[in-house]
Amino acid sequence: MNHTRRMTSILRNEYHGGGIDLGNFAEDPIVQFERWMEEAIGSNVKEPNAVHLATADATGRPSGRIVLLRDFSERGFSFFTNYGSRKGDDLEQNNQASMTFFWSELYRQVRIGGRVYKLPADESDAYFRSRPRESQISAVASQQSRILENRELLEKSAAEIDEKYRDRPVPRPDDWGGYCLSPEYVEFWQGREHRLHDRLQYIKTDGGMAWTIRLLFP
Ligand SMILES: Cc1cc2nc3c(=O)[nH]c(=O)nc-3n(C[C@H](O)[C@H](O)[C@H](O)COP(=O)(O)O)c2cc1C
Repeated sequence: MNHTRRMTSILRNEYHGGGIDLGNFAEDPIVQFERWMEEAIGSNVKEPNAVHLATADATGRPSGRIVLLRDFSERGFSFFTNYGSRKGDDLEQNNQASMTFFWSELYRQVRIGGRVYKLPADESDAYFRSRPRESQISAVASQQSRILENRELLEKSAAEIDEKYRDRPVPRPDDWGGYCLSPEYVEFWQGREHRLHDRLQYIKTDGGMAWTIRLLFP
């Protein structure tokens, strides 16, 4: 393609989301996130738990990808993956990361920043056990982010694992499990008319004991 496709002239949506009412915003961003997640689910947002996860290696080289949020609580925001993947390597070197949700139907974005910790092995075991057997086999078969010579190798590996564990449960591989992002920063963005959007920032203060809430220019 030797011409520029200018997206802004093709797509210029106005955002008509209702404003952020500070009086109704929770003091705790996890409580507020729960409300927005419920509204996203209630509004039939597609894949509301799909979230962009940004990591960086020790040199600061960034990398982003989508993962599925498994759960969230006061502890943080959890997802599951291969610990030997690129994101796993990044997090090993530098455990600071950022998550970004985009719920287009509601003109909303939530950005979360903090440090990422591995979940305890028993939690990863419990979640692994709860997955369909086919997903368990895929997790064992995939050396995520490594070079795959051809697709047949992956399918052959999956078939062998299927055969090996025909009569017993598929065990969780040591290099597959959960991470939890413990939030230090949470920002809620609400798109509004004429690009006069709302942004509300929560930052952890008092040595992590309290949240300070501020508006930001959009
Ligand atoms: C909708 C969607 C959901 C995904 N969910 C996950 C997930 O929960 N865990 C995961 O490891 N990869 C998931 N992926 C694949 C990742 O985006 C990525 O390709 C993979 O984790 C390897 O990334 P890495 O090389 O940066 O480690 C998902 C991709 C999409 C598009």
